[in-house]
Amino acid sequence: MRKPLIAGNWKMYKTPRESLSFLDAFLPLVVRHNRDELALFPPMTSLGYVLDACARSNVSVGAQNMHWLNEGPYTGQTSPTMLSSIGCSHVLLGHSELRLYFGETDERVNLKLKAAIKHNFSPIVCVGESEADRNAGKTEQTLRSQICTALRGVSAEEADRLVVAYEPVWAIGTGSTANPHVAAEAHGLIRHELGRCCNQALAGKTRILYGGSVKPENISALMQQEEIDGVLVGGASLDPQSFSKIVHYT
Ligand code: 13P
Repeated sequence: MRKPLIAGNWKMYKTPRESLSFLDAFLPLVVRHNRDELALFPPMTSLGYVLDACARSNVSVGAQNMHWLNEGPYTGQTSPTMLSSIGCSHVLLGHSELRLYFGETDERVNLKLKAAIKHNFSPIVCVGESEADRNAGKTEQTLRSQICTALRGVSAEEADRLVVAYEPVWAIGTGSTANPHVAAEAHGLIRHELGRCCNQALAGKTRILYGGSVKPENISALMQQEEIDGVLVGGASLDPQSFSKIVHYT
């Protein structure tokens, strides 16, 4: 009932030329794939090129972040209007690397989510506990407050296209994936929280992706969990062969 979404977050990797050469190899490998939705999140300088190359393909394209205002004196920022004007359909919000290195807060994620909804983007809100949170038994508390603050003032109707990505900080870029059962438990918690903060219908239909060292070797075990509705892949999405193996998991 929830169509899986397989997304690649390229972070700060690939020039436009490298992005296009990835697509030359990757698009033919997934051309008829319709079991899952596919999306790529290239860096800002590649966004226009990737959008052009993916037009009329089965791959959606989104930005890795955005400001919540349409314009203003905010050096280095990109607005929802700008992203929408070049045909962007998706946007990642609240990635843990932004939270960790660039001071992203739940309050700003909330403003960005509202802007994303207003501009008809499909927003992917990233949440996840740090290793310290987990060791201190604060996983539930962290996820609850990230979800509830992100959704403050957002109705279930407005959150219609919302996707949540559970990315435990301790599993990102470390090579150590969360055990599928541990991940599924966190997904259950997030779903429960969506129900509490919005309503059960939204909780039931919202896709919750897992992210954190997803690879061709562990995708099947993750996708066997009923609670896992897709993945947000970092490192393994940079290579067309490995990302295509993830897409074609069995
Ligand atoms: P890795 O797959 O490289 O661990 O990154 C996960 C991630 O942060 C995706 O957004």
